[in-house]
Amino acid sequence: MAYETILVKTKDAVGLVTINRPQALNALNSKVMTELQQALAAFQADAAVGAVVLTGSEKAFAAGADIKEMQSLDFVDMFLGDFISGWEEIAGFRKPLIAAVSGFALGGGCEVAMMCDFIIASETAKFGQPEITLGVIPGMGGTQRLTRAVGKAKAMDLILTGRMMDAAEAERAGLVARVVAPGQLIDEALAAAARIAALSQPSVLMAKESVNRAFETTLGEGLLFERRLFHSLFATMDQKEGMTAFAEKRKPDFRNR
Ligand code: HXC
Repeated sequence: MAYETILVKTKDAVGLVTINRPQALNALNSKVMTELQQALAAFQADAAVGAVVLTGSEKAFAAGADIKEMQSLDFVDMFLGDFISGWEEIAGFRKPLIAAVSGFALGGGCEVAMMCDFIIASETAKFGQPEITLGVIPGMGGTQRLTRAVGKAKAMDLILTGRMMDAAEAERAGLVARVVAPGQLIDEALAAAARIAALSQPSVLMAKESVNRAFETTLGEGLLFERRLFHSLFATMDQKEGMTAFAEKRKPDFRNR
């Protein structure tokens, strides 16, 4: 499909989506978000793709939702149009989705990164929820996902002041999984995605579902959910293959079955 605001590539079993609105620091307008969802839906449907990397430019992963697009909307426009409700679909993508963040990840940009399964950041990355400086609050999960990721103290600090935090602070706070040198960002993220894509897809998708369950339920229910999924993986051929390959001291040949 031809996209206007994103670039989409597939390399072996890995998908790469690059937000590409350089004139606006990758601000997320409706077009970007629609195209992002279309690209992810296509990767979802493509059995050959095992994991996806979402990135932006060196200067900006995304500097937020498009302020100029929102500027003149009123409450009724927002409410009746259910503004951004569909954007949450990114969090429902079933395959592993890695955010590779360089430069600004602000507002909706930080929120989209947090909808991904984990964030690999360049040393140049800057995260923040500056909505308060615009007279609004985060609207795509910032008050919820950031708080779960970094705890109340730092979430309040960032959301109430609107300040940015750098990659080192974001890693210390637990928002970011790895920080790498700027030139290594895409290679590191693609390598992580390729490593995941080489594993057995049923186990990978269930691992993702199970970790996400930790944010939705009690410990007891989460442990039960995990155990049931664990049991169910013994119905797969890949479990037999993975364990047999270990015992035979060879690499497994997973078939996603
Ligand atoms: C629309 C944006 C934009 C945005 C940058 N631009 N961010 N346009 N929406 N979120 C545009 C600028 O207007 C400018 O266009 C061009 O990109 C370059 O930006 P500059 O400001 O000139 O760059 P710089 O001086 O380097 O400053 C970078 C920056 C600043 C610190 C990131 O652009 C900034 O503060 N941006 C807004 C960040 C923000 O508040 N994000 C939250 C948005 S609200 P021109 O045409 O002048 O060259 C949000 C709500 C989410 O995300 C929840 C609901 C969806």
